[in-house]
Amino acid sequence: MFPLRAPLLAVLVSVALCQYYDYDYQPVSMLGPSSANCHPECNCPITFKSAMYCDNRKLKSIPAVPPQIEYLYLQNNQIEEIKSGVFDNVTATLRWLVLDNNKITNAKIEKGTIDKLTVLEKLFFSYNEITEPVIPPSKSLDELKMMHNKLNKFPSGLLTDKENLTSINIQHNELTSESIAGAFKGPKKLLSLDVSHNKLKKLPAGVPSSLEILYADYNDIDSIGAGYLNKLPSLQYLRISHNKLVDSGIPAGVFNVSSLVELDLSFNKLESIPEISELLEQLYLQANEINKFELSSFCKVIAPDRYSRLKHLRLDANYVTHSSMPSEYVNCLRQASDIMFE
Ligand SMILES: *[C@@H]1O[C@H](CO)[C@@H](O)[C@H](O)[C@H]1NC(C)=O
Ligand SMILES: *[C@@H]1O[C@H](CO)[C@@H](O)[C@H](O)[C@H]1NC(C)=O
Ligand SMILES: *[C@@H]1O[C@H](CO)[C@@H](O)[C@H](O)[C@H]1NC(C)=O
Repeated sequence: MFPLRAPLLAVLVSVALCQYYDYDYQPVSMLGPSSANCHPECNCPITFKSAMYCDNRKLKSIPAVPPQIEYLYLQNNQIEEIKSGVFDNVTATLRWLVLDNNKITNAKIEKGTIDKLTVLEKLFFSYNEITEPVIPPSKSLDELKMMHNKLNKFPSGLLTDKENLTSINIQHNELTSESIAGAFKGPKKLLSLDVSHNKLKKLPAGVPSSLEILYADYNDIDSIGAGYLNKLPSLQYLRISHNKLVDSGIPAGVFNVSSLVELDLSFNKLESIPEISELLEQLYLQANEINKFELSSFCKVIAPDRYSRLKHLRLDANYVTHSSMPSEYVNCLRQASDIMFE
């Protein structure tokens, strides 16, 4: 059991301090007395001995970590380096390592640190200055967050043995399609991948077929590979807004896959509405250059059991209006409670 759950408080505190937390977090003032072998600059609550809180302390380096620590909070400091041996007491116990919002570069991460952590489950390394991911040998890794860094490469094979990895967040980096080729091979249980705000020209290649969520907003994607989504039979949420998609980059039927529930193609350069599956529920196409409304994008056949499940359709900031829709739309789009033209 994890006794320090105070998400609402964390939200309030983070709003108040204008800081970023997306994990359970409790302010130091509520932690109570610290246990004896804790580093004097940190707090290890006697009620939760496996955690050491060293966040928000202007630390320049990582303090000594006593044995048995499983959760180590080091976010919001001025840490620039990770010295060899700092985790030697906890190589086989540390499960969470939170290093968000520091000043760490790859050059200052010595050997004998993260590369020794054998049971780490969560590595939170956002808002630092790394150019390459740092991946522990732990096969138990389930969550990796390295957003808002300077990642410009993600070598192939780093994640091959991460059988329990379900979530990767690497938005706001400098990754290109070439630099991530092969990066996501391996984690067979990956559910969520966020590569938005990078420099990708294509959707990431070789992603596991388990994927349910793929966010690739704010990149330079101009086309989708034919059959890309056929290799992702579980994909439900796909966002490619704020890219450079044009009609000629969308192969016929590429989005007509039955797993998709939400498709965001807003802020691109599409001139027509792509064909979608009857089962899609949310389609975002605002701020494109769409100049015609073809019902065949939604329904090839209309019958009692053949109609579009679309609930929300956004077409505002395009060149179509309500009067662009043929009157048969009421049969095809019979579930659409919300079609926005402006
Ligand atoms: C390991 O733990 C001991 C006992 O708390 C402490 O004195 C020592 O500094 C720790 N070593 C490191 C590398 O943190
Ligand atoms: C992966 O997760 C399962 C289920 O939580 C767990 O039983 C298993 O030990 C984990 N594997 C590793 C290598 O940690
Ligand atoms: C989508 O694919 C299904 C099944 O292959 C097909 O019946 C349907 O006509 C296609 N829908 C569109 C809009 O092309």
